[in-house]
Amino acid sequence: MNAEGPAHQAALIRFESVGKSFQTAEKTFEAVRDINLSVQAGEVITLVGPSGCGKSTLLNMTAGLMKPTSGNVFYRDAPIKGLNHNVGYMTQSDHLLPWRTIAANIAVPLEIKRMPRVKAADRVEELVALVGLRGFESAYPTQISGGMRKRAALARLLASDPETLLMDEPFAALDAQLRIAMQTELLRVRERYGKTIIFVTHDPDEAISIADRCVVFSSRPGRISKIVETGLPRSRDLAKLRFESRFLTLARDLWEHLASDMKTEAASCLDA
Ligand SMILES: Nc1ncnc2c1ncn2[C@@H]1O[C@H](COP(=O)(O)OP(=O)(O)O)[C@@H](O)[C@H]1O
Ligand SMILES: [Mg+2]
Repeated sequence: MNAEGPAHQAALIRFESVGKSFQTAEKTFEAVRDINLSVQAGEVITLVGPSGCGKSTLLNMTAGLMKPTSGNVFYRDAPIKGLNHNVGYMTQSDHLLPWRTIAANIAVPLEIKRMPRVKAADRVEELVALVGLRGFESAYPTQISGGMRKRAALARLLASDPETLLMDEPFAALDAQLRIAMQTELLRVRERYGKTIIFVTHDPDEAISIADRCVVFSSRPGRISKIVETGLPRSRDLAKLRFESRFLTLARDLWEHLASDMKTEAASCLDA
């Protein structure tokens, strides 16, 4: 299936006929097949679909941690070879260093870059304010809540100032209110810094509410089954959005699509 976005040539990231298989001792397992997708600079793309449909695999290939078995992933029209230094990757687990304070954790990418101390301190202060962690700079990760740790992880991701953010179910473990706060933070970051974001989630509501385009996958092997252009305004009030008719229509359609996909999947398992 061809799932090109608008203005194909201007794509920042492009998946062209991408397939990925994994070789185990007994067999070859096809994780994703024939993925065609263009991501424009400044876009928020969500990837949604059942567990095991290859969402993380697509992020890993975009980060250059894995190579496609067939096809190519392009970044600015060049096939990705080796690690892609244009991206920052945030996984479900926050991976904060327990022996460092929040400020020192956020400073890690700046130290790696050898940013001068005073400049780095200013940058950390700015990031701490951005993610709402003022007053917690000297705390250790074990002394703050899960939501605050996520904020710290987001600040650390932004400290390396990547052009593109790859986010793998980063807010899945948070309660509903915190999740909305973090999603709001993320959209604010996109707005302020013009980042491009590929965001993996298995929550259909999240997939619609933060996306410009939501890419829906079917499983075994993962393929793009639908792309939803949300048409939602760039800056949106996520707490109110969930009650608005445009969102409700999109979310209902997506839930129905995923449910019918699951039925087909179940039937094919029974046939097999
Ligand atoms: N390194 C790997 N070796 C073998 N199989 C893998 C590897 N990474 C992923 N897979 C398999 O590929 C499929 C897709 O995985 P993944 O991308 O993690 O799915 P998702 O993120 O959508 O849950 C799964 O069946 C998974 O077991
Ligand atoms: Mg995954």
